[in-house]
Amino acid sequence: ERPTISVNPAHVIAPINDNTYGGFTEHMGRCIYGGIYDPGNPLSDERGFRRDVIEAMKELRVPVVRYPGGNFVATYHWVDGIGPREQRPRRRELAWIGVETNEFGTDEFLQWCEEVGTEPYICLNFGTGTLDEALGWVEYCNATSDTDYANLRRRNGRDKPYNVKYWALGNEMYGAWQVGEMTKEDYAKKAYQWAKALKLLDPSIILILCGQDGFSSWDAHVIKECIRHDVHGVNPEKGCHSLIDMHSIHLYTASSDHLCNVTAPLAAERGIEIAAGLIDLARIENKVPPSVPRQKICFDEWNVWDMFRAPGEQGAEERYTLSDALAVAVWLNVFVRQARYIGMANIAQSVNVISPLMTNPGGIVKQTTWWPLLLFSRYMRGDALAVHLRCAEYEGPTKPEWIRGTVATPWLDVSVSLKDGIVALAVVNTHPDEDLAVDVQGAKGPVEVFTVTGDRLDAVNTEEAQQVGVKESNWDGQGCYVFPKHTFTLLRWPAS
Ligand code: AHR
Repeated sequence: ERPTISVNPAHVIAPINDNTYGGFTEHMGRCIYGGIYDPGNPLSDERGFRRDVIEAMKELRVPVVRYPGGNFVATYHWVDGIGPREQRPRRRELAWIGVETNEFGTDEFLQWCEEVGTEPYICLNFGTGTLDEALGWVEYCNATSDTDYANLRRRNGRDKPYNVKYWALGNEMYGAWQVGEMTKEDYAKKAYQWAKALKLLDPSIILILCGQDGFSSWDAHVIKECIRHDVHGVNPEKGCHSLIDMHSIHLYTASSDHLCNVTAPLAAERGIEIAAGLIDLARIENKVPPSVPRQKICFDEWNVWDMFRAPGEQGAEERYTLSDALAVAVWLNVFVRQARYIGMANIAQSVNVISPLMTNPGGIVKQTTWWPLLLFSRYMRGDALAVHLRCAEYEGPTKPEWIRGTVATPWLDVSVSLKDGIVALAVVNTHPDEDLAVDVQGAKGPVEVFTVTGDRLDAVNTEEAQQVGVKESNWDGQGCYVFPKHTFTLLRWPAS
């Protein structure tokens, strides 16, 4: 049978949240220092912000950026990073075993976000931090009252509030690598109490619960305990219906075997589906009224990360291949297909650390993974559409094995969107050596075509040579479209 992809613009699944294309900047390796902040470099502005990085973030249209960790946040005291620079303490840092100078802190980050035109998303310290500190941080960022932390912000030169909407209740608190590692029972109790106090202070904030990967007993427990019919702390008149607004999950995938590399992100799809089911179950068991908006998934760390190629303690500067770029395109297809559950997703990370964007003292390098991210952020917005796919399948193992095992996986990985009357079809041909001719039902010429590929699956981009980029062409929409081997293709045509 001939392979087919059928698309119908009337078959809308759900809106794609713009925050699907979010970023993440952690005090880790060269993400902040030497990445977004590089004082003295001729490429930086008077505040030390790298202008070329800001331009790149604007080009990517990054809607939201998570900060300051990650693991870093578990021993971070935000007060160290505000006020006159010369008075800020240098501290030992226990996540990546370094020294934090605190030259770059809350005001710098929030002003950088304003410059980029992106929303900040702050993660609270659930390790050595206290609830008082967390309340102080929210007050410092958001309050207009004549109170201590709001006045401290004013004294530091910032009169109007920053209005930081997104706040996370800790990071990976289940992990043995965390200062402050907790049992799921202890975490659920603490997160719920913090959420109550934080929402009493500022009912306009969106709170994100710390989950694991979506398919763990940690997720099941914390969702069941924290997604409840809340009575105290909520304020429906101010739009605050529940203490917890989103559940966060993390996953990194990688394999030196191409087929395992490109199929591994499908484990994240299971994680999203399972976590969404756990949320539904908690809402039913805890009798959460339907008037409370359904809590979404915040996939606030995702990417291809091979810990051997790019160890964390060394700044995780991974050099990405074409195979990795195709894996990133599959990751993004997952988020579009799961649009009904995704409230936010953040590639980890935005600069230098496991990132599509690398800096050096004289400029930036766009890695292979930059190109699918750019095309998705530019074109895969609006509504996600249902798609029917029929094609031959890969029947080998997928990783991690305990999630999907050996199941048949179509050689083509596909998602579709509709925005402003234009259909966009994203297709990854994961096959290492076969082109696939496909009957694209519903496509109408003229079709704009964007192709990301390279000569070899291990092609990389460096300062010297960009082996992987985007090629633009056109197709008249007649007959079959041939998706070349190991290629990511995005087709766009008018819906009517
Ligand atoms: O993104 C790198 C690290 O990976 C983060 O600090 C942590 O949350 C995760 O384990």
